Amino acid sequence: RGLVQRQWHGSASYSILSPSLQLERKNYLSANKHRVALQARRGGGSKSGPELHCQLQSEARLGTLDGSQQPFAGLGWSHFVPRRPLAPAAMGSDFKTCAVVMSAGAILNSSLGEEIDSHDAVLRFNAAPTKGYERDVGNKTTIRLINSQIMALRKHHFNSSYLYRNVTLVAWDPAPYSLNLSEWYENPDFDLFTSYVRWRQDRPDQPFYILHPAYLWRLWDVIQSNTQENIQPNPPSSGFIGTVLMMALCRQVHVYEYVPSARQTDLCHYYEEIHDEACTLGAYHPLLYEKQLVQRMNAGTCDDLRVKGRVTLQGFGSDDL
Ligand code: C5P
Repeated sequence: RGLVQRQWHGSASYSILSPSLQLERKNYLSANKHRVALQARRGGGSKSGPELHCQLQSEARLGTLDGSQQPFAGLGWSHFVPRRPLAPAAMGSDFKTCAVVMSAGAILNSSLGEEIDSHDAVLRFNAAPTKGYERDVGNKTTIRLINSQIMALRKHHFNSSYLYRNVTLVAWDPAPYSLNLSEWYENPDFDLFTSYVRWRQDRPDQPFYILHPAYLWRLWDVIQSNTQENIQPNPPSSGFIGTVLMMALCRQVHVYEYVPSARQTDLCHYYEEIHDEACTLGAYHPLLYEKQLVQRMNAGTCDDLRVKGRVTLQGFGSDDL
């Protein structure tokens, strides 16, 4: 607990992590699997919350695969992806308030379900269920953001699970930092393309998007350019991606249990018995640094953060939504 208290009130530094998490970060830096250009990208921690907000808005424009680029153009994807862009209109609504519900174990016993469901739109992640957890996490799901493992690994039952029906689906997988899309198509981290094609054929009316890898890496650039240390050269976590995605779609966003509340625990997810501090502090993902940025943009009160684990963010360009 002492460790963590320092984390959320001090500057973002890997030095607060346990030796094993420090080692993992180091190994990811030397592996640099996605061939991120690491030189000279580090920045200071001096930007204010509003300055950070502006930087995210201008440098990380929401983009999904639209089939206009190769190899997707040649595969006819422009007729295959949803016709309407990923925007509130595609979901038949105008989103004034949105909730982003992290999957952290710390949301258990929060009794936040009713509050979460009162938002116009609710974003959840991966295989996070609502059934049986309604009191703490609510039961409304508007968007589900999924990583490519959900679509590729049998254990997730992507095709048959109720979790992925009747919602807008948004999937992501990291391409090389160079954004060579042909290389990505041939060799994604996990094969999301096969499932995507089948799903679009079977359920053409369900909005289902794949985030453009440029979006992921521009988010990464913003995190690195505001952090004095070298961050892990891996894409941001789903939590950060989903948070910034909702800032693009909503006037106001409440993010739950990303920056941990007083309930913080090493229980990885509220829905399974796995204990691992890396889920909250990061190993593969630059999670620690992401959370510092989100906390810097928080427009809510300290009490909301401590008691509810709730961060309040203004959406981008709320005027024209
Ligand atoms: O584990 P999973 O990626 O499905 O969880 C969704 C997101 O919730 C993560 O990407 C991370 O940003 C956030 N999370 C967290 N602390 C945890 C578990 C998840 O911040 N203990």
